[in-house]
Amino acid sequence: MDANQFIVMNGKELVFEPGETILDVARRNGIDIPTLCYLKGASPTGACRICLVEVEGARNLVASCATPAAANMVVRTESPRIREARRLNLELLLASGRHNCLVQEMDLESWADFQLKAMKGQDGGELCPAYGECRLQELAVKYQARPKGLPPTDTVYPVEDVNPFIVRDFSRCILCGRCVQACNEIQVNNAISYGYRGAQSKIVAKGDLPLVNSDCVFCGECVQACPVGALVPKADYGTGRLPLEARKVRTTCPYCGVGCQIRLHVDDGKIVRVTGVQEVGPNYGSLCVKGRFGHDFVNHPDRLKKPLIKDGDRFREATWDEALDLVARRLGEIKEQAGPDALGLFTSARITNEENYLAQKFARAVLGTNNVDHCARL
Ligand code: FES
Repeated sequence: MDANQFIVMNGKELVFEPGETILDVARRNGIDIPTLCYLKGASPTGACRICLVEVEGARNLVASCATPAAANMVVRTESPRIREARRLNLELLLASGRHNCLVQEMDLESWADFQLKAMKGQDGGELCPAYGECRLQELAVKYQARPKGLPPTDTVYPVEDVNPFIVRDFSRCILCGRCVQACNEIQVNNAISYGYRGAQSKIVAKGDLPLVNSDCVFCGECVQACPVGALVPKADYGTGRLPLEARKVRTTCPYCGVGCQIRLHVDDGKIVRVTGVQEVGPNYGSLCVKGRFGHDFVNHPDRLKKPLIKDGDRFREATWDEALDLVARRLGEIKEQAGPDALGLFTSARITNEENYLAQKFARAVLGTNNVDHCARL
C-alpha cells in the first residue's frame, strides 16, 4: 500500500489501494454509505444512485460504488443535499412499480403503527412477499421517502411462475441489475440480461422466454441478490408469510462434499427457504439448485423414517435393533459361505466425510473387502 495515496472522507485522511472505489474505502473504514444496486464481487452498474456522495470540485453528486478513489480527493458521505438526493431517487423507485408495502401514503408519525399492523398480517393479503426484508423498503423508511404525487408505473408484464422454483414479479422489479450481475458475473451462467427500452424495460432470459425455456440452471443466485420482491422462491410465494417471521438456522448443505454454508429459514417447524451464507467460504452465498431449492424431502410424507425389512415381496417397518441384527447376521453368513469379496459397500456423497471414512473402515477392517464405492444418488 502506498502511504501517500489517501483521500479525505468526512474530514479523515484514509489510505486507499489502487482500484478501490470511494465505497470500498468507506466500507473498509466503517463508514456507512447506503447501497441498493451494488453487488459485492461484481462490477458496479451505478444504476440506483442511492450511494451518492459529494466530491469537492465535482458539480454533481457521484455514485460512490462506481467512482474510483483518487489521491487527495475530498469526499463527504452525509449532508442535507445528499440525503435529499437519495430520498428523491428512492421515491422514483417506489413509484416505478407495485411497491405496496404501505410505505406509499403514510404520515411520518405513523411508521411504527404501520409496521406493527403489517407485521400482524392485518394488511398482509396483497403484501409484498419481501416485506420486512426488502432493501428498498428499509431505505424508504430510513430516508422517509414517500412517492406522493408520483403516479405508480403500471407494468404490462404478468407474473411468471411457470417453473418449479422461482416466481418473477416484474411489477416489483426496480431494474437494479443485481440479478443480472449475480447470474453473469458471480455464477457466470449468462442466462439473463436487460431487455426492451424505457418504460418497457425488463430483465429477460434469452429471447424473452420464461426461465424454464432458457439457459437458466435455477441456482437461485438471482433470487438471493434481488433486493426487493421481484424474485421469490416459488415455495414461499403467495403464502402470506412474512420473511422476518422465519427463524434462521445456520448449517451445512447436506447434498455433496463441498460443504456449502446455508441458512435454513424455518417457520412452524418447516423449512420455507434456503439462502447461502454470504460471509464465509466455501460458497460465499452461492448455492446450486439442489442446495437452494431441494429441501422439500425434509417434510415430505413419503420420507422413510424407520428401517424396512423385506418380508416376501413386501416391506414391513422394523426397529433399528431388528434391522441391524438382520444385516449383521446376513453379512456374516455371506462372508462365511462365499468369502469377503462377495460383499461390497456403497456409501453416499450425501453423508459426511467422517461417515464415509467409517464406512470404508468397516468394509476393510470388519468385512475384509476393498469393494467400496459410492453412489451420488443414494
Ligand atoms: Fe451505487 Fe446503486 S449502489 S449506484
